Order: sequence, then structure tokens, then C-alpha cells
Amino acid sequence: MEKERKLIIVGNWKMNKTVAEALDLVQGLKRELAAVKEVDVVVCPPVTAIADVSKAILDSNIRLGAQNMSEHNGGAFTGEISAGMLKEFSVRYVILGHSERRQHQKECDGLIAKKALAAHAASLRPIVCVGETLAEREADQTKEVVGKQLEGSLAGLTKDQMVETVVAYEPVWAIGTGRNASADQAQTVHAFIRQVLASLFNEAVAKRVRIQYGGSVKSANARELMSQSDVDGALVGGASLEVRSFSDIIKNSI
Ligand code: 13P
Repeated sequence: MEKERKLIIVGNWKMNKTVAEALDLVQGLKRELAAVKEVDVVVCPPVTAIADVSKAILDSNIRLGAQNMSEHNGGAFTGEISAGMLKEFSVRYVILGHSERRQHQKECDGLIAKKALAAHAASLRPIVCVGETLAEREADQTKEVVGKQLEGSLAGLTKDQMVETVVAYEPVWAIGTGRNASADQAQTVHAFIRQVLASLFNEAVAKRVRIQYGGSVKSANARELMSQSDVDGALVGGASLEVRSFSDIIKNSI
């Protein structure tokens, strides 16, 4: 399948995997995915496994991401981790503003924008997550909600930084529920996101930004979702925790 933008498929392991389990998983992924060149493959382990996974994937085509970071560079912020600390382990990407953090840690668009700027300052590529709840979708507020999240969470980025930013559309109602957005539903929102990016930045920037879909992606629905013109990859939760299911998603997307 020839795509305008290179697909990026990211495994968000969330709060799962001991170091030993993480190493098992990446060793398996390295074997299964050694020949894959068409897709950027990224894994985002919990921070406790980042050092070991980083070493284990050194000689592979798998890249490393983090699930969160602080907006600060350092100092008295107990429990926080900076972009610079992640860079020490060759982390290239960082998920920001995941709906679980928006919900449980009360992260708002303004904070996510600060984190995105801090990530870029350290040459990390942010994966900025947006998405509506079921109540918002049913009230026909999807575009309003997603538009506002984009405007707030990407505030202050330069055009060059935006091109190096990934947007993940993750409808909250599709996360961990087994109920994925249909290919049509995803394409509609992705096309809208690209329109918003064109108005916030410009057409040329919007054309280059990769927009991932996330929410109950599995090998059975990956091909149809990835075949949509504005769907440039996937952010995978549950199905990224096993070698077979994650590698099948990637192979089915090519
Ligand atoms: P699931 O793939 O488990 O629905 O999770 C999606 C997600 O939240 C990825 O960030």
C-alpha cells in the first residue's frame, strides 16, 4: 500500500511489563520485524524498562518512545522525568496528553503545549493525543472538542516543529473497549485534523504531519484503518503487549 506519508506504528505499553517481560517482548519484535522498512516502528515501555529496552534495540529498526515527560528541564519536581533524561537512553518520541493522563492527572492543553515545546527543545518528537469522549461524540461535539485540543496543545510550536510532531487521534470511547472507530469515522476526523493544522500552520505543514489513529487497533482492523488517506499510522495499547498481535498489525498495514 503506497502512502503519502511514512506510516508510524507505536506500541504504548502503558503501566505493563517488568524489565524481563519487556526484554522478551522486544527480542520477539526484533525477530519478527527485522525486514520491515516501510513503517516506523516505535515502542513506549514504562520508564523502568527504558534503559534495558534501549540497549536491546540498538541494532534494530525499532525506535524508542516514552509515555510522558515533565515540561521542566530539571530541579525540585519530585517524581518527574525530563526530556534530557529520556535523551540519555536514545528515546526519540514521547507520547503527550494521552486521554488517561488528561483524565487521571488532569493534564490540560496548556500543559501539553509546554511539554511539546520542551520535547522539541531536546530534539524529542512529541506524539500529541487528542480525542472526544462518548458523551461528546453523541452530542455532536467531536470537531469542536478535537479542534480546541489541537489549538491548545500545539500552541507556540513553530512550523518546523509541527512537521516533526505526530498527532494521535484516540477517541476515548474506543480505548481499551474493543470498539474501534470505523475506518470512515477515523478518516472523517483525521481529515478534519489536517484541516485544523492547515489553518493553525499552513497547507504544506498539514500535508506533512503524520496523524495516527488509536483505540482498539488490532491485526483484524489495521489494514482497513491504515488504508484511509489521512490515517498515517496507529497508536496501539493492548495489542502492543504481545509479539504476535503487534507484529501482525504492522505486517497487515504494509
Ligand atoms: P487500546 O489499543 O488498548 O485500545 O489502547 C489505545 C491507546 O490508548 C493507545 O495509546
